[in-house]
Amino acid sequence: MSAVSASAGTAVAAPGEFAPLQVGPLSIWPPVVLAPMAGVTNVPFRRLCRDLGAGLAVTEMITARGFREGNPTTLALARGGPGEHPRAVQIYGSDPADVAAMVAALVDDGVDLVDMNFGCPVPKVTRQGGGSAIPVRPRLLARLVSAAVEAAGSVPVTIKVRKGIDESLSTYLDAGRVAVEEGAAAIGLHGRTAAQLYSGRADREAIARLVEAVPIPVLGNGDIWEWTDGLAMMRETGCAGIIIGRGCLGRPWLFGELAAAFEGHAPPPPPTMGEIVPILLDHARGLVECFGVDTGMRQTRKWCAWYTKGFRGARAVRAELLRVSTPSELESLLAGLDPAEPFPRSALRAQRAKRGRTQRVRLPEGYLDDRDDDRPPRSARLEASERALSGG
Ligand SMILES: Cc1cc2nc3c(=O)[nH]c(=O)nc-3n(C[C@H](O)[C@H](O)[C@H](O)COP(=O)(O)O)c2cc1C
Repeated sequence: MSAVSASAGTAVAAPGEFAPLQVGPLSIWPPVVLAPMAGVTNVPFRRLCRDLGAGLAVTEMITARGFREGNPTTLALARGGPGEHPRAVQIYGSDPADVAAMVAALVDDGVDLVDMNFGCPVPKVTRQGGGSAIPVRPRLLARLVSAAVEAAGSVPVTIKVRKGIDESLSTYLDAGRVAVEEGAAAIGLHGRTAAQLYSGRADREAIARLVEAVPIPVLGNGDIWEWTDGLAMMRETGCAGIIIGRGCLGRPWLFGELAAAFEGHAPPPPPTMGEIVPILLDHARGLVECFGVDTGMRQTRKWCAWYTKGFRGARAVRAELLRVSTPSELESLLAGLDPAEPFPRSALRAQRAKRGRTQRVRLPEGYLDDRDDDRPPRSARLEASERALSGG
C-alpha cells in the first residue's frame, strides 16, 4: 500500500494515476513546474530545481518592451543556462507588436516554450490597463495571444492568469476560452484575484471549473507548500499539472518530494541543517558564477534567510548571513551550525516572500465601459511602469 503523509493523510500516486503533462510537443514529468518568480527563477535556481526533480522551470517574467529596447538586464534574464532543456521563458507584454517580435527572437534562440503573464497585480501597471487588467478585455487578450502563437510557429505558447480583478470581476473563464480559440497549448491559473495579491487561500474550485471548461491542459497554482498539497491539488481539481511558487523558496527539495510522490514512492523526510548547507553553498556559487561576486552575494543573502528560516541554531548568525559578501565567508558561517538540527515543522508552511495583504485594484478610468475594446494600452506612464516591473 502506498505511503501516507502524516500531516494530511494524503496517499502518494497510485500506479498510472497521473500522466505526464503534455504541452504541445513537450512531455513533462513529473507534471510539476517551477513558477516564474521575479528575482528568483534565474539560471542557477532553475538548474537547482530541475536537478532536484522539477519537470519544468520557467524564467521570471521578462518585459517585451525592455527586450525590444535591447535593455541588457532584460536580455540577460532571457538567456538559458548551459544545456537547459526544455527552456521556458515567461514574457510580459501589452502590445502585440512587441510580443510578436520578442517571441520570434526567442524561438530563433532555441526556446522550447513561451509562457505569457496576464496576472501581474502591480497597481502602477493595472491602473494603465496592463497586467491582470488585460483579461478584462478578452479581445485585447486574444490579439496578444494570437500574436505570440503566430510568431512561435511550432513552439508551444501557454498563458498564466489569476482568477480575475476581485470577487466581482472574474476573468479566468474568458481567459480560458481565449486561450483555446487562439491556440495556446495550456493555461496556468493562480487561484487568487489581483485584489487578493497573496493573501487568503488559493481557490481550488475555480481551478476545477476551468478544467471542466477548457480542452487544453490546466495547471493549478497556489499554496502548494508540501507534496501532499500538490497531489491534493491534482486530485481535487483534475488539473494536468501544478505550478510551485513560494513553497520552494529556500526549500527546493520540495521538487524531490513531489517527484517521489508522483512516482508512487514515499518522499524523503525534510533535510537536516547538515543536508541543507551543501545545497545553499551550491546555490550561492551558482549565483556568483551567473551574476558576479557583488550581485551574486547580494542575492545570496535573501536565500540565506529563506533556507535557514525557523532553524534555532541559525539565529546567532542570521545578522552575519544577511551581510555575507563572499562564498568562503558563507562557508565558514554555515560550518558553525549544528548539522544534526532537524528541519523545523514551523518552517514548512511559512511564507518566505509576499506576505498576506490585499489591495483595491485600480483600472483606467472608464475601462469597464468598453470591454470589447482591443486596442493595446499606450501611455508613457505604462511604458515607464513596465520597464520597472518585477513580480506577478
Ligand atoms: C517573489 C515572487 C515573484 C513572482 N514573480 C512572478 C512573475 O514574474 N511572473 C508570474 O507570472 N508570477 C509571478 N509570481 C507569482 C507566482 O508565479 C505564483 O503565481 C504565486 O506565487 C502563487 O503560487 P504560490 O502560492 O505557490 O506561491 C511571483 C511570486 C513571488 C512570490
